[in-house]
Order: sequence, then structure tokens, then C-alpha cells
Amino acid sequence: MRPTRRGFLAGATASLAAAQAAGALAARELIPFGSAVMISDFRSDAKLRAQLAKLCDVITPMNELKWDWVRQNRSGFAFENADEIVAFARKNGKAVHGHALLWGDALPAWAKELRDPKETERELVRHVEAVVGKYAGQIASWDVVNEVIAHEPTPASPWRDTVWHRALGPRLVDIAFATAARTDPAARLVINDYDFENDDARTAERRRQVLALVRRLQDLKIPVHEVGFQAHLYAEKAIDRRAVTALARELGRLGVGVRVTELDVIDWKLPADPRERDRLAAEVVTAFLGALIEGQRPQAIITWGLTDRSTWINEVFKRNDSARARPLPLDADYRPKPMMAAIEAARRLSEGRRVP
Ligand code: XIL
Repeated sequence: MRPTRRGFLAGATASLAAAQAAGALAARELIPFGSAVMISDFRSDAKLRAQLAKLCDVITPMNELKWDWVRQNRSGFAFENADEIVAFARKNGKAVHGHALLWGDALPAWAKELRDPKETERELVRHVEAVVGKYAGQIASWDVVNEVIAHEPTPASPWRDTVWHRALGPRLVDIAFATAARTDPAARLVINDYDFENDDARTAERRRQVLALVRRLQDLKIPVHEVGFQAHLYAEKAIDRRAVTALARELGRLGVGVRVTELDVIDWKLPADPRERDRLAAEVVTAFLGALIEGQRPQAIITWGLTDRSTWINEVFKRNDSARARPLPLDADYRPKPMMAAIEAARRLSEGRRVP
């Protein structure tokens, strides 16, 4: 049949509609992006707030839900600071990722002194119930335990030495997850930890240990939904791409998701030249995210801050020269760096793939 002009137009309109639908689908399927923000920057920096509103799907209160903010007073809970960030996120249609219900650091003085197992368990349960309960329906996912694997674990000694571990042993994980699950059955519960991505024996053992942790909870029939890769990436170290892919894939097989929770680039050993530094930072981000996504589509890619104006890297990973760290996707003038493009490209990688 000879195509009529009318038929042609109808066909063109139909394929345009199909293309638009595909575009909408692709946009919807982009891996969600997010950033952590600390309350002082949030309050003082309107440009930062505008960028958070523009760029993010998810926001993490960086410090404001840690024990030393919420629990200075043993008998009470101080939520004002976290509330401000959560309210902003909700007003702007963003999800909130909660950080963190149990951590060995950032504890108020009284909690550092906990020794008695019964008392420690009581305090932990009370804390998780109060914090998760307060934000049920507002905070969609939680780092339930943060950094519980030893820095250099061995099969005989896999746990990080903390107040929690000294009093409770491995049960600390069971108690924290079971309480969170009971308090908000809809929340996604995350084991969050660091150093999963490099090519050395210590990191390989850390990968084994996080799988052991997942299996422990599953054997006990306690819900665990995701492993959070902090992903503070050392730019001078090679990413073990195969190992990252294998870990994400194995977690998928166990029915457990992955999430990038604290992405930034530790650039202390990189050349001073900012352009070269930014190029190398983007490269390590591309290698890591590509390997992770190859194994499983992450639930979100969250950076530990949005602009180089404000980052913990300056304090903790000091450079030998006086140059400021450049670990984040936007520069100090809020301009996107190559790292932002690397993240954008990675977010599109799983377009059209089936979400596990
Ligand atoms: C850091 C914050 O970025 C700083 O502002 C704070 O002073 C100390 O903690 N791993 C974690 C985060 O899980 O909570 C840490 O955040 C960085 C390392």
C-alpha cells in the first residue's frame, strides 16, 4: 500500500510518542542520585540548597542522626537538626537515607561508657525504636550498622572493636536489624561499610566478611535489604573491578541490594594540577561504578557532600602541598566537574536492564 501523507503523519506521531515514552522510561530508570549534607552548610549556603533541590533524588543528613547529635542527653532525643534536612527533602520530593543507627564512633560520653550487656542492649533497642519510629514513612532507608567490620579483619577476629561489640558481641547486628525491622517494616535496612573495592588481601577479607554478615542475618531470618558501599575511593589505588562485580552479583543472588552511600575521591596523592586531578578522580569513579553496576544495579548513588567547598577529606586525608581536596562532583563554585559527568554516565548504564 502506498503510504498516504496522513498515514505518514500518524506513523510519525506514533513513533514520536513511542520515543517520548521510551525517554520517560529511561529517565525514570536512571539510578537515583543523592548527596549527604551537614546542617551548618545547609543553613548557611542557599546555593548549595538550590543544587541539592536541582540535582538530588535522595538526601542523607551527614551527621545529624548520629548518636553524638541526637543523644547528648541520655534520657532524651534531639531531632531538630535532622528534622530541618528531612523537611527540606520532603518539601522538594526527595527521599531521605538515614545515617546511622549504630556506629562505634560519634558517641556521646555516656554511651562510650556502656559496659553491661543488658543495659547496652536496652539502650540500643530504645534508640533504634525511637529514631526509626520517629521517621517511619519519612526516612525510606537506614544505615542500620555502620563500620562494624574490623579495618583489617581476620577469620578469627572479623569485628571492629567498639562499645557495642565489647558488650554484645556479634548480636549487636541482630539486635539493631531486628529492632529496626520491627519498628518500620517498610524501611530498607542497610549494612554500611568501607574498603570493599581495592585489590589487596585486607580488602578481599572485608568482602568475605560482609557476605558472612548478610548470611548471618538471613540464617536468623532477620531482614537485611542492602549493603552500602561507602566508596571513599583512594584515587592512587586500582579498583578491583572483577571483585566488585562479583560481590554485587553474589549479593544479588542472596536477594540483597547494593547502594553507594558516601562516594568521594581521596585525592591526597594525586598531582596538584586541578584539571589532571579532576580527570583522574572521574576515572576512578567510572571504574568503580561501572564494576558495581555490572554486578547489580545500585538503589542509589549518594556522594558524601556535593561541592568541594565542604568535605571531610581536607581534614582526614591531608595533602603534602597546600592544595584543597577536590573529592566531589561540583567544584567550589558549584560547577560540575568531570566526576559529575562520570556519575551521570553511570546512572544511565543500567537503562532498560531488568532491576534485580
Ligand atoms: C564524617 C563527616 O563527614 C564529618 O563531618 C564528621 O566530622 C565525621 O564523620 N564514614 C562515615 C561517615 O560513615 O559518618 C563519616 O562522616 C566519614 C566516614
